[in-house]
Amino acid sequence: MAVREVLVYPDPRLKQVCRAVGEFDDEVTQLITDLLDTMYAAGHSVGVAAPQIGSDLRVVVVDVSHSKLGRDDNHGCLVMVNPEILEREGAKVMREGCMSVPDYTGNVTRAEKILVQFIDADGIERVVRARGFEAVAIQHELDHLDGLLFLDRVSSLKTDVFRRKRR
Ligand code: NI
Repeated sequence: MAVREVLVYPDPRLKQVCRAVGEFDDEVTQLITDLLDTMYAAGHSVGVAAPQIGSDLRVVVVDVSHSKLGRDDNHGCLVMVNPEILEREGAKVMREGCMSVPDYTGNVTRAEKILVQFIDADGIERVVRARGFEAVAIQHELDHLDGLLFLDRVSSLKTDVFRRKRR
């Protein structure tokens, strides 16, 4: 297991479009472990995507079960390999943060409900219906696989992005 350094904007590796996972080899297994370790070590994090730790494979982890906004409606720890959103419904604006954009948050509009298909950590294909905060977190993480940050999703960098208060 290893907690990995999280790349920070404007690192060019955050802009890459990731490639699909072929077979579950050691690289993929290790990547999943490192993503989980990195997410849980951060404490407040509800998801991490492979490019954030320097990999170009289509893998993300999401777990909103420990967060105030997501604890009542979630699927626990989700390891998502080659994820794909099949359906989107509704719209919801939420204030988003990202470990790769540590100094800012932003208001982003995303689907309120999604149907997402992926391969889990055991290599099993799954389809999950997510809504609310969990759906937003999944959409945020999947964006990373296509080189998109929440900064690319805000309507206006002037009015929808906010500097975090210093801790
Ligand atoms: Ni992020």
